Amino acid sequence: MAHEASQPATAHPGAPLKGETAVPGDKSISHRALMFGGLAVGETRVTGLLEGEDVLRTAAAMRQMGAEIVKDPDGTWRARGRGVGALVEPADVLDLGNAGTGARLLMGLIAAHPIFAVFTGDASLRRRPMGRVTAPLQKMGARFEHRGAAEGKVLLPLAVIGARDPLPIDYALPVASAQVKSAVLLAGLNAPGKTTTIEKERTRDHTERMLRHFGADVAVATENGLTRATVTGRPELVGRDVIVPGDPSSAAFPLVAGLIVPGSDVTVRGVGLNPLRTGLFQTLREMGATLDVAGRRDQAGEEVGDLNARFSALKGVEVPASRAPSMIDEYPILAVAAACAAGRTVMRGLHELRVKESDRLSAVARGLAACGVSATIDGDDLIVEGCGGPPPGQKPGDAPIAANLDHRIAMSFLVMGLAAKAPVAVDDVATIATSFPDFLALMRRLGGTIR
Ligand code: S3P
Repeated sequence: MAHEASQPATAHPGAPLKGETAVPGDKSISHRALMFGGLAVGETRVTGLLEGEDVLRTAAAMRQMGAEIVKDPDGTWRARGRGVGALVEPADVLDLGNAGTGARLLMGLIAAHPIFAVFTGDASLRRRPMGRVTAPLQKMGARFEHRGAAEGKVLLPLAVIGARDPLPIDYALPVASAQVKSAVLLAGLNAPGKTTTIEKERTRDHTERMLRHFGADVAVATENGLTRATVTGRPELVGRDVIVPGDPSSAAFPLVAGLIVPGSDVTVRGVGLNPLRTGLFQTLREMGATLDVAGRRDQAGEEVGDLNARFSALKGVEVPASRAPSMIDEYPILAVAAACAAGRTVMRGLHELRVKESDRLSAVARGLAACGVSATIDGDDLIVEGCGGPPPGQKPGDAPIAANLDHRIAMSFLVMGLAAKAPVAVDDVATIATSFPDFLALMRRLGGTIR
């Protein structure tokens, strides 16, 4: 496993960040491209795939279930599957590493195949709740055995016996989660008839869009504030070309750095602008950010554009809970921006942050405090008192910020160190490779000092 030896790093305040760059492919879309390509009949060609550890784990798991997945010398990935319903039983445990999306979506796929599989992952993934996916998948006929039952939890390692005759269901999501929605829709692929998910708060719709692209019948309709996504089971999925846009959740780091390091001017090309993913950009603009989009274009069913961020005097704002699904992975870096803003930022409805790669709500509050920024948690809300300029940073001799196997906590506090008055050290940045393998090199190319 990659995280055995911890890899510390320290970000130092210094020169402005300048330049034009691109970020790796979208993690959510990359996982799905390999899963659907590995299921579909015929060839799928994926360009711009995120080659992060999480996605490579999904590729390995799909291969274990009979998919052919290879990388060409020109960087294109090619996948070939055997069709919906034809996954083969994996001969060994599926180790999804740090990847929640990989684990939960694959559970959905396997739940509707008559096969046995065992899931495990790293220490972070083994702490994360899986009951949110096993509950609906059980209704569809899958059976699960797992760790954590004594405490009323569903934790990895987990064994699944998929249903021989999966049942289609209508499922109202109890949490706003694209992973849960996707797991149910993917199980529905191999159930006869129609499987429907019902959301009060819309979450990212990459599964719905990409299933359609591969030839499935997926209907989405919003009525009386509820969004229903319905997949018709047993479609013929056909291999397609997928162009993966730059990940907005990764672009967030250099862009926020551009906004908060004085004198900066940073452009990130080809960033995905799916409206269910852009809550951070909207919030930053409300804070007064100079954040411009140029060259908006459609790329294989997903909108992309080039984003330019220039140093801006930010002000605190209130971020409503209703925006959380569209920026769920961006709160740690938003909190860093809020620390540099003038006045108070209140981020509401962050309960889901407690069950990400780490408890991000506590990790952010603790990390900000360690950098001399006043941050409080009030129920599910995070309140940050902005410094109206560079935050103090760490005191000499202080312990490094604990990343807790969480790539986004590690990247957020390194960005903090570039913008603060004093350096910020992070204890272990190895997990950054799960989503943004090039992060340190890219930030250095823009002029950041990270050692
Ligand atoms: C993802 C959904 C979100 C997000 C994760 C990726 C996806 O998780 O945090 O990084 O690809 O569907 P939840 O579904 O748990 O909110």
